[in-house]
Amino acid sequence: MNFLTWGTDPWGQEVLIRISWDLLYVASVLGILFVGAHAVWLAFFVQEEAEAVDEAALAGVPEKVARHSLASRVFHWVMAAAMLALLLTGFLPVIGIQFPWVTIHWVAGVVLTLSVIYHTIHATFWLGLSAMLVGPKDISDAVSRFKRSIGQDAPAPRKHGKYPLENRLYHHAITLTGGLVIVTGILMMFRIDTPLWARDPYIFTDPTWGMIYVVHGLSAVSLVTLVIAHIYFGIRPEKRWITWSMVWGWIDRRHYVEHHDPEQWAARSEGSSGQR
Ligand code: HEM
Repeated sequence: MNFLTWGTDPWGQEVLIRISWDLLYVASVLGILFVGAHAVWLAFFVQEEAEAVDEAALAGVPEKVARHSLASRVFHWVMAAAMLALLLTGFLPVIGIQFPWVTIHWVAGVVLTLSVIYHTIHATFWLGLSAMLVGPKDISDAVSRFKRSIGQDAPAPRKHGKYPLENRLYHHAITLTGGLVIVTGILMMFRIDTPLWARDPYIFTDPTWGMIYVVHGLSAVSLVTLVIAHIYFGIRPEKRWITWSMVWGWIDRRHYVEHHDPEQWAARSEGSSGQR
C-alpha cells in the first residue's frame, strides 16, 4: 500500500502531489472496526449497572436542564451539514462517482470556516473554555470508571462535568483535524477560480503545494473516521438523550442527576437567562 502519490514536474523531477487514496479505505475500515469493537465491548464485556437515581436529589433540579443555547445548536447543525457536504463532494469523485464537485466543495468549505470562526469567538467569550479542559483528576476518574466497568475494584469516580472526558478528547481531535483541513482548504482556493480572490497557483512552489494537498488529504480522511464514530455515538440508544439536547437545547432532570456532577456543571433551568 502507498501512503503518498508522486508525479513528475515539467523538468522531469519527482514531486509530491497528494496522499494515496488507499488511505481513504484505511480510514473507513478503521471507523467501522472501532464502531464494531465498541458495540461488542458494551454488549458482552461491560458489567456496569446503572446506579439508582437518588429521588431526593431530583427535587432541587429544574425539570428541563439547559444544555445548548439556540446559537450553539444552530452552529452544530450548520457545521454538520457543511462537513457532510465536504466529505461527499471530496470523496465521491475519489471512489469513481464523477460530478462537478469543486464549486459545491469550496462553498461548503467557506460555510464551515465562517461557522467555526463564529463558534471560536462564541465559545471563548461567552461559553468559557473550562468545560473542555482535561485535568489529572479526569484521567484518574476515567481509569476508575474503566476498572469498575470490567468488574474490578476502584474508588467511585466523580460524575461528569458538562462534557464527559471522551467528548472533550473528541472535540480536541476534531479541532486539530478541522483546523488543518480549513487552513489548507483556504490556501487551495488559490489554485482554483472563485469570486473571492484572484487565482494564483504560483504563490507556492510545487513541493509546498504537495505538502498542502497531503495535509488536506490526511486531515480529510481522518475526519471520515471521526465522523463515523460521532454518528455512531449520536444514534446509540443510551446516548440519544444527549443527541436530542442538540435539537431541543435541554436534558431532563433524571439524566442530569444520573450522569452529571453539580460541582462541575451547575443545573440551570431551560429558558433562564445565561443559558449556554
Ligand atoms: C470535511 C472537510 C473536508 C474534506 C473531507 C475535504 C476533502 C477534499 C478532498 C478529498 C479533496 C481532493 C484533494 C486532492 O485532490 O488531493 C479536496 C480538495 C479541495 N478542498 Fe477540501 N475537504 C474539506 C474541507 C475543505 C475546506 C474547509 C475548504 C475551503 C475552505 C476546502 C477546499 C478545497 C479546495 C479548494 C480543494 C482543491 C480543489 C482542486 O484542487 O481542484 N476543503 N478536499
